[in-house]
Amino acid sequence: MYEQVSHSLLNDILIALKPEIKKQKLQHFYTRLGANFYAIHSLFSALYGDRPDFKAQMLRLVETLARQYIKRPAYLKKADLAREKDHNWFLSQQWAGMALYSDHFAGDLQGLGAKLHYLQDLGINMLHVMPVLDCPPDRSDGGYAVRDYRKVDARIGTMADLDALGAAMRKRGMLLTLDVVVNHTSDEHAWAQMARQGDKTYQDYYYVFDDREMPDMYEESMPEIFPETSPSNFTWDEQMGKWVMTVFNYFQWDLNYKNPAVLIEMIDVILFWANHGADILRLDAVAFLWKKIGSTCQNEREAHLLLQLMKDCCQVTAPGVLFIAEAIVAPVEIAKYFGEDAINAKECEIAYNATFMALMWDAIATKQANLLDIGVKNLPDKLDRATWLNYIRCHDDIGLGFSDTDILLAGYEPGPHRRFLVDYYTGNYDTSPSRGKPFGRNEKNGDARISGTLASLAGLESAQEAGDPDAISAAIDRILLLHSLILSFGGIPLLYYGDEIGTLNSYAYLEDARKRGDSRWMHRPDIDWDKAERRNQPGSVEYRIFSELKKLIALRKEIVAFADFNNRELLTLDNPHLFGFWRFHPQNTQAKVLVLANFDESPQAAPLDALRLSHYDGIKDLHTGKRPEMDEAQLTVPPLSFYWLSA
Ligand code: GLC
Repeated sequence: MYEQVSHSLLNDILIALKPEIKKQKLQHFYTRLGANFYAIHSLFSALYGDRPDFKAQMLRLVETLARQYIKRPAYLKKADLAREKDHNWFLSQQWAGMALYSDHFAGDLQGLGAKLHYLQDLGINMLHVMPVLDCPPDRSDGGYAVRDYRKVDARIGTMADLDALGAAMRKRGMLLTLDVVVNHTSDEHAWAQMARQGDKTYQDYYYVFDDREMPDMYEESMPEIFPETSPSNFTWDEQMGKWVMTVFNYFQWDLNYKNPAVLIEMIDVILFWANHGADILRLDAVAFLWKKIGSTCQNEREAHLLLQLMKDCCQVTAPGVLFIAEAIVAPVEIAKYFGEDAINAKECEIAYNATFMALMWDAIATKQANLLDIGVKNLPDKLDRATWLNYIRCHDDIGLGFSDTDILLAGYEPGPHRRFLVDYYTGNYDTSPSRGKPFGRNEKNGDARISGTLASLAGLESAQEAGDPDAISAAIDRILLLHSLILSFGGIPLLYYGDEIGTLNSYAYLEDARKRGDSRWMHRPDIDWDKAERRNQPGSVEYRIFSELKKLIALRKEIVAFADFNNRELLTLDNPHLFGFWRFHPQNTQAKVLVLANFDESPQAAPLDALRLSHYDGIKDLHTGKRPEMDEAQLTVPPLSFYWLSA
């Protein structure tokens, strides 16, 4: 019955479309609209069905999709058709990504274009070019306080530069990932400015209140995201004479998706960037999209409905474009951003594997893989056509977001264990070689997160300062060990710029009043190209890291079992220092690889039967080309090392 309602609405909408849309030949658009309309209509009415202007809003939405389809360049329409045919293309082991800022990496967008060869040499073929949009320079939150969704920030170039970069990347077979900051705008965005001047239409784009009554109710259950720099979730705006919701920084106004106009604007923005050649869009802070009094205002059901709508609409106009969910939330919640109750992903095809990231840091500090093992085993099942973004470091802090239940199962107390990890990485633990700093310390509940570059957290900074060659080697081993896992786990590995040459913390942010309060800037350094040059000098730290990573990335691309078809089997090993899993190819059972990682500083052995190996197997480590150390009973993994074994 409902389907009939939806069909009849679609007919009405098609009749009501503006003549300039109707006169176009839009065959593929109409096919996709027909296929997705039932879902779009159901979702839109679940969210906005009670509104008297519901039908008019639906018409606006469809017109937005059609207009952007008409603008979609022919070469992208062709790519859409090809990707529809080969719809699992992004699950291949061929992809290796890196996240970087164009300015910190290469000065600006043109500079980045001139450095593509460096990335390609390493094997990178997917780039997340961190926020490129116009932001107020002194209150940018690293690019996530957007003032204009359609203007490239003058500091890094122009729209023409970005288009040229996209074209150059396409020629090299590299994917372009761009951010869409869907949850909030800068308080200098035109919508916020108009709201400030008293325009009711734009005040409805945000959560705006005359007095503290509603904000106080929200605050009862909302956590603080930036407790040090922006403790409250609401900010008084003097000019407007009202309170506005600001979950992140006080200058980032949360958008109100209870207003369908906001959703339609954002879908238009998404399609605008899809039409500028983005292959993948990283949707920022998606867990926060829907606010409800009495809740934490994170992971609400409606946030998922909004994402499904964004996905369905994107399928109509730009079906080749994928979404990454940036939802750094509890393990059970993250997987829901692929879309619940479905077989195929129906929200975002890709999600940050924040749980795996945090668990690996736990294993490095404890030298034990037991929590890592339990945490990964308890990760919820992933849907088909969905994949992880596996990373070690990114531009944000490390939040210890694994579950308390898993911590208890691993034999630790959650509170003290988390405190130990923060202390370990921030220089409050005697035997730790790490040089991080706390981020977002919350004095009220004792929570804290961790900042610092991979190399400094892994001990390279302290080892180089001490001039200790063994400690330097151990730090390099940790860096490679962690990369060996993100490259083999299943999903797209996302390296972080500078890690490929062992970039240390930068303390320049302490000199800048606009950055001083936010320790995340210590791991957003300018690349030192003299240091990068040393990657060509055998024996240098940069060479030892870069050349090994390059080798591992190239190897990953050859190993079909590393493609992501939910083809991982975790092992239960008798040794708490070891973490291991088999990867196999669903169609080719011969193509199996055993991944083993030793987090301890001494060699560790596992029994052959637990590994499901026999002494007589002609086993070889694909990374070194050598047979691992083994006898009839067990196999030994060297300190802070890994194996990719093929039988
Ligand atoms: C995302 C970004 C982070 C930013 C926040 C608010 O989590 O990754 O850098 O501070 O959103 O925009």
